[in-house]
Amino acid sequence: MYRSHTCGELRIEAKETEVTLAGWVQKSRDLGGMTFIDLRDRYGITQLAFNLEVNKELCLKARGLGREFVIQVEGKVVERESKNKKMLTGEVEINVSALTVLNSAKTPPFTIENDTDGGEDIRMKYRYLDLRRNPLQDKIRLRHQVGIQTRSYLNDIGFYEIETPYLIKSTPEGARDFVVPSRMNENEFYALPQSPQTFKQLLMISGFDKYFQIVKCFRDEDLRADRQPEFTQIDCEMSFVDREDVLNTFEGLTKHLFSKIRNVELPDFPRIDYDDALENYGIDKPDVRFEMKIKNLADVAKNKGFQVFDAAEFVGGICAKGCATYTRKQLDGLTEWVKRPQIGAKGLVYVKCNEDGTFKSSVDKFFDQEALKAWAEKMDAKPGDLLLVLSGEKDAALKQLGELRLEMGNRLELRDPNVFKPLWVINFPLVEKDDETGHWHAMHHPFTSPNPEDEHLMATDPGAVRANAYDMVINGVEVGGGSIRIHDKSLQQKMFDLLGFTPKEAADQFGFLMNAFEYGAPPHGGVAFGFDRLCALMGGTDSIRDYIAFPKNNSGRDVMIDAPSLLSKEQLEDLKISTVKE
Ligand code: AMO
Repeated sequence: MYRSHTCGELRIEAKETEVTLAGWVQKSRDLGGMTFIDLRDRYGITQLAFNLEVNKELCLKARGLGREFVIQVEGKVVERESKNKKMLTGEVEINVSALTVLNSAKTPPFTIENDTDGGEDIRMKYRYLDLRRNPLQDKIRLRHQVGIQTRSYLNDIGFYEIETPYLIKSTPEGARDFVVPSRMNENEFYALPQSPQTFKQLLMISGFDKYFQIVKCFRDEDLRADRQPEFTQIDCEMSFVDREDVLNTFEGLTKHLFSKIRNVELPDFPRIDYDDALENYGIDKPDVRFEMKIKNLADVAKNKGFQVFDAAEFVGGICAKGCATYTRKQLDGLTEWVKRPQIGAKGLVYVKCNEDGTFKSSVDKFFDQEALKAWAEKMDAKPGDLLLVLSGEKDAALKQLGELRLEMGNRLELRDPNVFKPLWVINFPLVEKDDETGHWHAMHHPFTSPNPEDEHLMATDPGAVRANAYDMVINGVEVGGGSIRIHDKSLQQKMFDLLGFTPKEAADQFGFLMNAFEYGAPPHGGVAFGFDRLCALMGGTDSIRDYIAFPKNNSGRDVMIDAPSLLSKEQLEDLKISTVKE
């Protein structure tokens, strides 16, 4: 028996019992005749005590242990003289009578404690050591719980978990595919799924009615804090449902997860139209933890002689509560911030709403007090507030204001990671035009159905067609997305036509699905959650990386195992792939 208890388990009630513990040496301290060691495992830390006078040999052996040695000890639980109230095991320590070194350890390249001195690169290289630290253990545990609770909830309401293949033919979800050469089929490649989209639809045609899968997806796209090349979805599909059925089902799942895991009872999720999200928040995934909505100022700010506004398609602003005291330096800083290439605004107009009811703006030359008062009224501003105004081409200016709104939310600490504000964004456009090529692209994916009342516009005004698609957004994070699908061959054909597929291309790529539609496809729809993103959000962080045991770095590399890597000549020959440039 390696251990009778874990390192997180012993309390004062266990006083006087003989125990055996095993774990890692976190830290050791020599105080005169005593040596204390913090012994760590997944469950916690227990203090070990060695007395030089009582057992010299054992104490000297303990003094020879290095950090991260794996040891086993036997001893008696005793009450500590100086108790540590911060530790669950802090009232006791073990008077050690036997010590076995199970394995020695080299000095780790960084300290394995809650706060580490290791930089990002070194911690990625020694990921297995970084994972020993509590903050990471907590995140991986949270992920485990989200998975278990998801399975339990969906099972209870009749979903089957069904696996779909990883070696497939490419599905067009907007990113590039990772491909895998087939040894047995020369010159042919599988693609790794960007999502199991077509398979889950086929499972509905097979009559499974309710499907889910916690599944790896692969997308060869540029990486960011919330994006990994391989990530996990909670992928779901249901038959004989309309949009509200799907939204209510997964609102239920989300409420369940927050309640069980975070002890947070979420309110009902409001539904916001895509157009309204853009008008009010400048983004299709609004963070509604704070108000600060964008206000259109065209009728009070245009045609007053200020050339910049007069020439602009759109003038709008946000009201930052209590910021009229901003200094010149702070305002210049904000102006620089909006002019950064990532934001791309030409400049920033501000109006301070002074406590005495007067206004001070950066455009005083063009707008008198009366005019500025009209702006303030339009923006529900009170004395003490600061108005920040941008102008330009409408879509771009809204987007910039959306970014500025989030930045002000950060600066004013209005984005509390322990407050959760969920919503559904609905009525996305079905397609959007690529300005460069002039081609229409599916905004969600080509299997998404148009809203029935807009279907007639597909041929004449595709840009005006709304899709029966939805995103779940919490605190400005797109947690999941889905749609009611097309289940009719002729409508699917029409969609492929609109997207510029020739009938032959559509048949080559999606013949299997189109054929299946001819054998009794039920109406169906579903959603996929970004599992990693959901976990990060529930854990209160932006980056998904630490919720994945072995993530890739920003260049898509696993620096621990050093992948991707070159293949041997033999492997390449087997695959009939030549690395020699012709
Ligand atoms: P979508 O492409 O919107 O939909 O993906 C669903 C959710 O997956 C998450 N996500 C990612 N998470 C981490 N890294 C990535 N690279 C990444 N890409 C996406 C997001 C997103 O909301 N088949 C459809 C779903 C459906 O229609 O049912 C799909 O994959 O949180």
